[in-house]
Amino acid sequence: MRSYKIAVLAGDGIGPEVTEQSLKVLTAAGRKFGFRLDIQEADFGGKAIDKFGLPLPESTLKICRESRAVLLGAVGGPKWDELPVEIRPEKGLLAIRKELGLYANLRPVSLPPSLSEISPLKPQLVEEGLNFIIVRELTGGLYFGQPRKRFEGPRGREAVDTLSYTEEEIRRIVTIAFQLAQQRRKKVTSVDKANVLESSRLWREITNEIAKAYPDVQLEHMYVDNCAMQLVRNPSQFDVIVTENMFGDILSDLAAMIGGSLGLLPSASLGTGRTSLYEPAHGSAPDIAGEGKANPIASILSAAMMLRFSCQEKEAAEAIEKAVEKVLNQGWKTADLAGKEEKYISTEEMGDKIAEAL
Ligand code: IPM
Ligand code: MN
Repeated sequence: MRSYKIAVLAGDGIGPEVTEQSLKVLTAAGRKFGFRLDIQEADFGGKAIDKFGLPLPESTLKICRESRAVLLGAVGGPKWDELPVEIRPEKGLLAIRKELGLYANLRPVSLPPSLSEISPLKPQLVEEGLNFIIVRELTGGLYFGQPRKRFEGPRGREAVDTLSYTEEEIRRIVTIAFQLAQQRRKKVTSVDKANVLESSRLWREITNEIAKAYPDVQLEHMYVDNCAMQLVRNPSQFDVIVTENMFGDILSDLAAMIGGSLGLLPSASLGTGRTSLYEPAHGSAPDIAGEGKANPIASILSAAMMLRFSCQEKEAAEAIEKAVEKVLNQGWKTADLAGKEEKYISTEEMGDKIAEAL
């Protein structure tokens, strides 16, 4: 039987409960489509800090490197917020992205017309549904640029972060966006702040150079502030959005919400090595952890992306996506999707329904 080695880092907060539902759905998919997953769980984030004193222990990284894919839950929580930055849970997330060379973060927003009522936007803006993807650069920009420090200057406390990109870093991420667009509606929106930032002017220049190799794809440039507005004003104009790390972080939360909920947004992080990483775009939501209120769909759809990109189990991936759509179409909602007076089902019930629908 086809077998895939997967590292599972469930992490903190709602991470474990949503990941559990993904594993349930993956097992059901394996049974149906004839593959099995060879799963290795490892400590990560706050949990690893409690055990080993750091968020990404060497042993966890080793398990990840030896796996075809990493399925990650979420990290962080108030318990670890006061720790020095170097050993905070989020640092583990940034470190694993960097260590595995995962520079391309794909965040697809998809809302079929039948589900348009779950978007908080006016019905006429989403009546045709939503289907676009944010390609976020993940290992450069403000998140990693040097120098980065805090110090005492002549005018008191000062802090610096650096937004820098090399030619090659821009080229490889923009290339992924064009390749994706070729398989979709053939439009790339490159988002920057070239009216102000030097790094954005380089980004634009390189993007224009790359576009020449993709004459079948339409390229437009958009300033990031305008993009935020356009996402709310007319989200169906977008096909592939490509942007630097920090802009992508902010725009993808906005995009998730217009698609109904952050609890629906999956992500895939691909890169230079053979291991890719799959994680819901939402965080650890410590305020609702353990209450059965978390939406497992972002994690389940991330697992589907894993089957598609890392295991070449395309049919199974599509079946999971269809199952999610079917259950949502039947009107089942988790707490994040339900209106004030509406009934909702638990994290586990949602997982069960999706596994059954498969
Ligand atoms: C995300 C998260 C992370 C990020 C945090 C937790 C470091 O917000 O994956 O979008 O900013 O990249
Ligand atoms: Mn984010």
